[in-house]
Amino acid sequence: MNIDLCKIIELPKIADPRGNLTFVESGNQIPFDIQRVYYLYDVPGGSERGGHAHKGLHQLIIAMSGSFDVVLDDGKKKKRVHLSRSYYGLYVCPMIWRELDNFSSGSVCMVLASNKYDEADYYREYPEYLTALSK
Ligand code: TYD
Repeated sequence: MNIDLCKIIELPKIADPRGNLTFVESGNQIPFDIQRVYYLYDVPGGSERGGHAHKGLHQLIIAMSGSFDVVLDDGKKKKRVHLSRSYYGLYVCPMIWRELDNFSSGSVCMVLASNKYDEADYYREYPEYLTALSK
């Protein structure tokens, strides 16, 4: 998979003086159906998350609060994306190695995922991931 398939998606934003509203619908704003939602919170300063690739999972990563960076790697190219707005989502396609770092204090990272949790869908070792890419 090519890193250029991973893109920032601008989500609808209903601006309102009472507070803004953003929504995501399965298969509409994003190119997959949502089977799972999870979020990272109470992340200590200096922490790093991720450090794996998924075989078949599609994800949308959103900074619901605060900010953090996502480093994407397709085995050839690397790209660092800073997320800080809750109406932007970073679409991550399968077979992309990702690391998350630079979390601001109080940040919340929400991830919409195309499948339920399945440990068999992970590459957790970088060399194993590179080998899979070369097949
Ligand atoms: P992991 O995906 O490695 O977290 P991160 O990429 O954010 O660093 O998951 C950490 C642990 O949580 C691991 O033991 C698996 C478990 N987990 C679930 O049980 N369900 C889930 O939906 C997710 C994402 C993780």
